[in-house]
This record gives sequence, structure tokens and C-alpha cells, in this order.
Amino acid sequence: MSIRRLPEHLVNRIAAGEVVERPASALKELVENAIDAGATRIAVSLAQGGIGRIEVADDGAGMAQSEIALALERHATSKLPTDSIDEVATLGFRGEALPSIASVARVTIESRVRPLRLAGQARRSGQASTSSGQAAPDGWSRVVDNGRLDGEGPAALPPGTRVTVEHLFARVPARRKFLRSERSEYGACLDVVKRLAMARPDIGFTLEHEGRRTLSVQPGQDRPARVAALTDRELVENSLAIDYARGSARLGGVAGLPTFNRGVADHQYLFVNGRPVKDRLLIGAVRAAYQDLLARDRHPVLALFIDLPGEEVDVNVHPAKTEVRFRDPGGIRGLIVGGLRHALDEAGHRSAQRPSMSALGNWQPEPMRSPSFPMPAPGQSSVWDSLQPYSPQARAEAAIEAVPQAQSFPLGVARGQVAATYIVAEAEDGLVLVDQHAAHERLVLERMRRAMANGGVARQALLLPEVVELDEPACDRIEARIAELQEMGLEVERFGPRAILVRATPALLGAGDVKGLVADLADELAAFDSALSLKERIDLVAATMACHGSVRAGRLLSVAEMNALLREMEVTPHSGQCNHGRPTWVKMSHADIEKLFGRK
Ligand SMILES: Nc1ncnc2c1ncn2[C@@H]1O[C@H](COP(=O)(O)OP(=O)(O)OP(=O)(O)O)[C@@H](O)[C@H]1O
Ligand SMILES: [Mg+2]
Repeated sequence: MSIRRLPEHLVNRIAAGEVVERPASALKELVENAIDAGATRIAVSLAQGGIGRIEVADDGAGMAQSEIALALERHATSKLPTDSIDEVATLGFRGEALPSIASVARVTIESRVRPLRLAGQARRSGQASTSSGQAAPDGWSRVVDNGRLDGEGPAALPPGTRVTVEHLFARVPARRKFLRSERSEYGACLDVVKRLAMARPDIGFTLEHEGRRTLSVQPGQDRPARVAALTDRELVENSLAIDYARGSARLGGVAGLPTFNRGVADHQYLFVNGRPVKDRLLIGAVRAAYQDLLARDRHPVLALFIDLPGEEVDVNVHPAKTEVRFRDPGGIRGLIVGGLRHALDEAGHRSAQRPSMSALGNWQPEPMRSPSFPMPAPGQSSVWDSLQPYSPQARAEAAIEAVPQAQSFPLGVARGQVAATYIVAEAEDGLVLVDQHAAHERLVLERMRRAMANGGVARQALLLPEVVELDEPACDRIEARIAELQEMGLEVERFGPRAILVRATPALLGAGDVKGLVADLADELAAFDSALSLKERIDLVAATMACHGSVRAGRLLSVAEMNALLREMEVTPHSGQCNHGRPTWVKMSHADIEKLFGRK
């Protein structure tokens, strides 16, 4: 056996295997370098999803001729002046990115030093400082092609740096083979720029793909504005500001209301000390915080920024620096769950209060001429004459009576019911529509929660115990949870191999479909039991029970019942969304109504 030191180009190629997986990872390194250089504007341009060309231009500090050469050498960095990586304040610190990229692509670095280059200076002035009388030195350029120097010389450019990466992996077929379509590589690049742009609202970013501008944000935005600009403008009205501290750690950012949810988790942006991360611990904590406010296949939209002292977190655990390790993972989970729950609790009954714009758009005048709505016959004064036997679907009681208290209730006063499913209420500032089943289900769940927190749910014994037949594994699952179910007011026992005997049900569910409830519980436990913690399981069971114990769509309600429901919603936390994250009510403001009628 003979041991040898590997040549530098091979070492770089090996490092590239970890750092540069696809165009987006190279792009991430270049944009991070631009941020570290104190840029105020960063312009990214891509061709063929970044496979053909990635170009990142910044107006940061720039590099001198000798620094450019050094930057392309392995383990050369300007970012660890104190030899301690615990205090790293920059995004980069490994001194590996540029040599790694240059070992698997053709890299051109053009740079020109900004005079008086103090890190903060470029950020403050936003332009080349000539007031000191110093002229910016000339620019220089250096080209490295797959690890070999391929020329250098003077370059003309404003102060700052432009790095161009071409033909990524052209000489590494094994890697190239794993690249996906240009479209999906572009998608990954866009995501990288978005995340970094979200971390730094003080910096302006632009992104062009194949000459087309696809992203542009101005420097100097505040955080919520930047997050909304990069995700969804409607987030502004449908989110909560987060500001929460626990020990030395702080949680900030914006969290979407549960009703503003998405089918994929891609819209969750997480940052630790300004560094975008994809961390399972953090993602799990977000899930836990929203857990009973959202259906399992729905995800909130949010951007969370965790800031904590450098010694509390190790950023050097992943070559691409997208994962971190916390000294106190439990504390961080508590910070996120606590911060989000706190904000969501405060939001109370609020949901996505305005109907979505697309739904509002559907609320358009119907064409008047239709077979069921005849035009007045000659001699008839009005169409109403021909519509005598008119039986409305909706009911409204006492609609003419004045309702003096309307203004004192956020959800207003019930005016009627539509399709035996929706309550129509009048509030001081608009028209409120409530989904009675969704709302009631939520109220029952919150009642059960409260009862459990106060020592258990009251039981109502059945006059005759009911036998529910299920298959054997389903009975086993229920049997394994007998004690927990009992605490929630459901008293059951095993009754032979394929049956369960139900002796009592939670009193607040009222008399209902016992068999359906037990069967649903068995199904839910089968699907999720092993994956859930005790608390999550209890919530799951409570939610299933609540669904069974609530007012169904299709049940007629009296005005008094409707008002009672509205009043309870107003004082119940989380009543703005049902247990699956859909809104339980929407409000159409007077302004919206006026718009519909062209009065505004
Ligand atoms: N856009 C830029 N403007 C100014 N200096 C730059 C720029 N890009 C790179 N540099 C200089 O080149 C050095 C090497 O960059 P490189 O990305 O390889 O390593 P790093 O950023 O120090 O660490 P990491 O490997 O963690 O990214 C940097 O430390 C910095 O001094
Ligand atoms: Mg770097």
C-alpha cells in the first residue's frame, strides 16, 4: 500500500462533490459571497437553468489582482480573521466554494476594488465613494477552466465583482447525468435567490433567466414587505407578525394564518442568524405549532428568523451550510412552537377575513334573461307578477327589525341561514358568512380541550351500552388506547375478538352516531398512531370526536341558535378556522359590497 497526497486539482474536485451539487448550489455560494462583500445590489443572470451560464454581479468591496488569485485557492478566506469559527458573522467561512466550483466549470472572476472598502460603507452609501478623492483602482480578471488557469488580464467594470460560471459539469459526465431539466434547475436557482433575498431586505436583488427578468426587489425594504414581495402579496393581510423571545434566543418574522395554507411545504422560509436553512428540527416544530389548525396535507406559509448567540449554534456541520446544529434543540423547538402558538392564540377568532379575490370575482351580476326568470309579458307591469308561487331557499327571520347591538359584535348579528348550511350575519363593518358545521366543529374541539385541561371530559352513560363491530386489528388499536379515550369521555371495553362495547360518550358531543365515531377513531389511529406524540394523538382523537359532535351542514337553526354560535366563536381561540384549516367565516366589508355594485 502506498499512501500519497492528492494533487490540489483532485482535492478540489472531491470538495466540489459536496459543495456543488447542481447549478443552484453554485449560485448560492456566489450570492453569499456577494452579500459577505457588503453589496447593496446583486444582479443574477442565468442561461439554461444555470447549466449553461450563471453570472452574479455585485457592487461590494471587490478584490485586488492578488486577492482574486488567492480567492481561487483552497482554504483561502478573508472571513475568519480571528481563527475562531464560533464567531463567524459571514455566510462563508470555509474558503472552499470558489476553488470547488472552478474545478468543475469554467469560471471567470472580474473584480475592481471599491476605495475605502469598509464592510458597512458600500451598504450605507450605495455607490462608489469618490468623495475621499481616491480613484477606484482598475479592474482585473482571471479565468480558471476546470481547475486550470486559462488567462488573466485587465478588466473594465465598476467597483465590485462579477463572477461567471459556464458549462457546469461539462467535463464531469457522472455529475451532469444527475442534473434535471433546465426548468427544474432554474426553479432551484430561483428558490436560492428568494431565500437569500428574504434574509437581507436591505439589499436589492434581480434575477434574469434567458434574458427575461423574473425577480426584482428594491434595497431597503422592511422585512414583512420583502417576505410578501417574494411569496404572495395577499400574505400581508393574512399573516401575523412574530416577535418572541426565550432565553437568549429570539424568533421574528411573519407567519401565515392557518386559513392561508398551501398544498406543499415549499413556502416555509427558515433562517438561523441570517442564514437560510432547511432543518428537520425546525420544520417539525412548525408542524407541531400548526398541527391541529391544519389538515395533515396542508402547510402554512411563513418566514421565520431565529437569532441566537453564536456559541448556541454550530453552522459548520454541512458542506453547503444549509443545516445547523443547536446546542439546545429542545429550547429551539420550544421557541418556535411557543412563538407561533402565542401569535396564533392572539389572533383568536380571526381567520382569512376577506373572501379570496377570485371568490369575490365570481360574485358578479347574473344575466337577467334566463328561462326560469321570464321577462314581463306585454301588459304586465313587472316580472314579479309572473313569479307568484315563489318559495325561497333561504330563511330570514325578523329582517326588518332594527338590530341595535350589531356594532358591538365582531361577527355581527344573525340575519338568516342559506342552504341550511351558512349563517348570514350583519356586522357593523360588513356582511359575515359562517360555515355552521366547520365553526361548530371547532368550538366542540376547543371545549373538549378546555375540559381536558381541567381534569377530564364529562361522560354521559348510554342507556343501553352499544356494541360496535370492527375488524380485529381495529379493535386492538382501540383497546390499546382505552385509558386515553376514557380521559376524553369515551368509555369503551373489548367485547370479544371483533367488537367494542361503548358504555359512555363525551357529554358535550350529545347523542350521536356512536358506531361511526368509534370506527373513525380506529381508522385515524391506524393511519397516524405510531407517528404521533401523546399530545398529538389526543388532539387527533378530540378532533375526530368534535367532527361527530357538531352541527351538521343541512340542519336548520333558529336565529337564537345562530347568534349563540356567533357569540361563542368570538370568545373561543382558533375559531377562525376549522380543524382542517379552512376558514369558518368570511367577512365582506361594506367597501367590497360597494365595489360589487359599482358604487366605488
Ligand atoms: N463577490 C466577492 N466580492 C469580494 N470578495 C469575494 C467575492 N467572492 C469571493 N471573495 C473573496 O474570495 C474568498 C474566497 O471565497 P470562497 O467562497 O471560496 O470562500 P469563503 O466565502 O471565504 O468561504 P465558503 O467556502 O464558506 O464560501 C472570500 O473569502 C472573499 O475574500
Ligand atoms: Mg463563499
